[in-house]
Amino acid sequence: MRIFQHVQDIGDLRVALAEAQDVKRDRFRWQHLGKNKTALLIFFNNSLRTRLSTQKAAMNLGMNVIVLDVNQGAWKLETERGVIMDGDKSEHLLEAIPVMASYCDIIGVRSFARFESREDDYEERILNQFIRYSGRPVFFMESATVHPLQAFADLITIEEHKTVARPKVVLSWAPHPKALPQAVPNSFAEWMLAADVDFVVTHPEGYELDPQFVGTARVEYDQMRAFEGADFVYAKNWSCPGVTRPDAYGTVLDDYHTMMQWTVSARQMAVTHDARFMHCLPVRRNMIVTDDVIEGQRSLVIPEAANREISAQVVLKRMLESL
Ligand code: CP
Repeated sequence: MRIFQHVQDIGDLRVALAEAQDVKRDRFRWQHLGKNKTALLIFFNNSLRTRLSTQKAAMNLGMNVIVLDVNQGAWKLETERGVIMDGDKSEHLLEAIPVMASYCDIIGVRSFARFESREDDYEERILNQFIRYSGRPVFFMESATVHPLQAFADLITIEEHKTVARPKVVLSWAPHPKALPQAVPNSFAEWMLAADVDFVVTHPEGYELDPQFVGTARVEYDQMRAFEGADFVYAKNWSCPGVTRPDAYGTVLDDYHTMMQWTVSARQMAVTHDARFMHCLPVRRNMIVTDDVIEGQRSLVIPEAANREISAQVVLKRMLESL
């Protein structure tokens, strides 16, 4: 594996899920693969889970790990070509990428949507420069449009906790005080469409996800109707993706009162098939989900986060095997 961005990059999902269980049974079995190999994890944005779980996964595989927080201690990077660099940015990504690549064997990058331009975000300008100029395998640790390590961990979690062969999985928009990117719902939709689940997306009008990710999934604007009979409820906020409202890309569309009708609470969970609750974390309690639901017996948020180590280890293992 040279790039981990989309669900297709992992190949057959049944094989990947079986491999995840192999890793979980004995996560130190492949230490020989990472001997004298270095993973460089580059963060343009904050992280708790991705940072720790990916480091742990790399260490499980016997790798050395370097973590770089670009905005804390490194030179401020220019990312646009052709710019006269007379401002506060001291180094260009075009030099920084091959330099960083010379110190490692595999690169992971986190770089969120900037919301300056939908075109720039959806073209993945930053990550594509790493793919093009590093000469190293590159995995996405949440980019402008995707978060595949999260979606893979989510699928592992669903597989481990499902009680019917083909569970109903509902991705529900939920309120948040800030405009958030679409990376998590995009990847979740992409992975659920490829998995053996009955997938439904629910959100207020205007939040339609990009068709390249949401494909033919059923979209239901009535949240209560979407939740009926659900086996898994996956809550997440996202800002306007600019599909039906190009003028509003990256903004919060609704007023506070309207938005707060979408908080996942016992009211919505009552019409489900005793659904398990999922969220990628970090979560804004009593905006996205009420305390009782996230703390309840049906909440999966902790095992879901723990599976981030497993998804990262499968991806790193595949990359090491391809070096
Ligand atoms: N879910 C997730 O990616 O968490 P972090 O932003 O803390 O890495």
